[in-house]
Amino acid sequence: MGNPLFATKSLDTLMKEAADTGEHSLKRALGPVNLITLGIGAVIGAGIFVLTGSAAALYAGPAIMLSYVLAGTGCVFAGLCYAEFASMIPIAGSAYTYGYATLGELIAWIIGWDLILEYAFGAATVASGWSSTLVAFLQDYGISLPPQICDVPGALWVMVDGRWAPATTFNLPAEQLAALPHATASFNLIAFLAILAVTTILILGIKESANFNTAIVFVKLTAVLTFIAVALPFVLKHPDIAHANWKVFLPLNTGTFGAYGWSGVLRGAAVVFFAYIGFDAVSTAAQEARNPQKDMPVGILGSLVICTFLYIAVSGLLTATVHYSRLNIGAPVSLAIRETGVKWGSYVVNAGALAGLSTVMLVMLLGQSRVFYSMAHDGLLWKWAGDIHPRFRTPWKSTAVVGLGAAIFGSLVPIGSLGQMVSIGTLLAFVIVCAAVLILRVRRPDLERPFRTPWVPFVPVMGIIVSLGLMASLNRVTWVRLIVWLIIGLIIYFTYSVKNSKVRNGMK
Ligand code: ALA
Repeated sequence: MGNPLFATKSLDTLMKEAADTGEHSLKRALGPVNLITLGIGAVIGAGIFVLTGSAAALYAGPAIMLSYVLAGTGCVFAGLCYAEFASMIPIAGSAYTYGYATLGELIAWIIGWDLILEYAFGAATVASGWSSTLVAFLQDYGISLPPQICDVPGALWVMVDGRWAPATTFNLPAEQLAALPHATASFNLIAFLAILAVTTILILGIKESANFNTAIVFVKLTAVLTFIAVALPFVLKHPDIAHANWKVFLPLNTGTFGAYGWSGVLRGAAVVFFAYIGFDAVSTAAQEARNPQKDMPVGILGSLVICTFLYIAVSGLLTATVHYSRLNIGAPVSLAIRETGVKWGSYVVNAGALAGLSTVMLVMLLGQSRVFYSMAHDGLLWKWAGDIHPRFRTPWKSTAVVGLGAAIFGSLVPIGSLGQMVSIGTLLAFVIVCAAVLILRVRRPDLERPFRTPWVPFVPVMGIIVSLGLMASLNRVTWVRLIVWLIIGLIIYFTYSVKNSKVRNGMK
């Protein structure tokens, strides 16, 4: 036997696990429409509704559209690799399982541990965004929540024009801020409760979760399409406004890397990459799909392609309607629709954003609990994490623990620090999945692949290059945090998992 650190889980065992249908197995309830809506549920959220504005204002100008094209292309490369694996090995663990089958246990552990950054931290990040969207939304109706329960401990909020907002929203010196009515937050109870609500739905059943998601995805798609339907005729009717806003499509670089110009387009792509995160979460539902071989690629690639087109359209119309220099705000899409004179449109957009963020949390937490479930089944995590509720047929204990953990993080850690960790964690998983497709093509060319990634090796190699490029553009602190996170994971691996691994002990 070779080095047990690189022991792989046999594909025959995986296929057998995928075929299990007993009461302790996950329930196969999802069809292609559920899977596409799961993808859209996880993808459209804070990225398009919030980050696009600041990325255009600070880095790329109207060329933020190109940033979306660039980040979307990188995701399509990775998405094609995910689709090959998800149709070939339809198991809940996603990248973790693909790693186990190809690169060995240690790498699988690293991916599984890394996916916590994407899914659990992703849910926490979005919960934080959800709470600020709710606060803004309620204030439109004259309802003010106490700022003390709306942000992380220590965050300063000020009241301007009768509305509460985080002090960081305003570019004002400290003495001017201190002169305004202000309050310091103690705990983001709103974010905490939002995650607990979503966790409850997830425990109650996969079909219930998928139905909730489908209904809400409909609301958020309506919001995005309403924006396009209102802004497009506006731009066509007022070519002078669009022309003035787009006169400088690619603002000149200021001399600093990332501040406009082509380097700004790159920096913008790294920021809006967050908007695409989540399409891969579809692959964690593979064990709950009725016909994963056929429907997994449809779910992953369908949701990704739909979102890419929508993002390019929204970002283009946004900067054509409002000059990019005015977009560094919390709700840029809502501002743009108000500028067209269609006031009701901003209510639709705000409601869509609020609804949209809730399904991002849902699908991210779904993904996280399924990855834990798979790791527990392999003996790499504690057995209880793999327990299935006999009635709901969901991994209820891991869902509850993951939900509680994400709720605590989301209510205590600032959104900026969380968001970058999510991006770096996701990109690392993309690199490993693309590499795994290449490796398995060489080692097991004979395997049946219901979906084959086209143009191998070009597509996986490009997936690796683009992902590494985006990782490189993230700051040093994020890299250090990633390394510390992986070290913590390795300590758990070497103290617990190596002793309990079923593959090592010949039980799988
Ligand atoms: N793509 C998700 C969002 O933009 C994470 O909220």
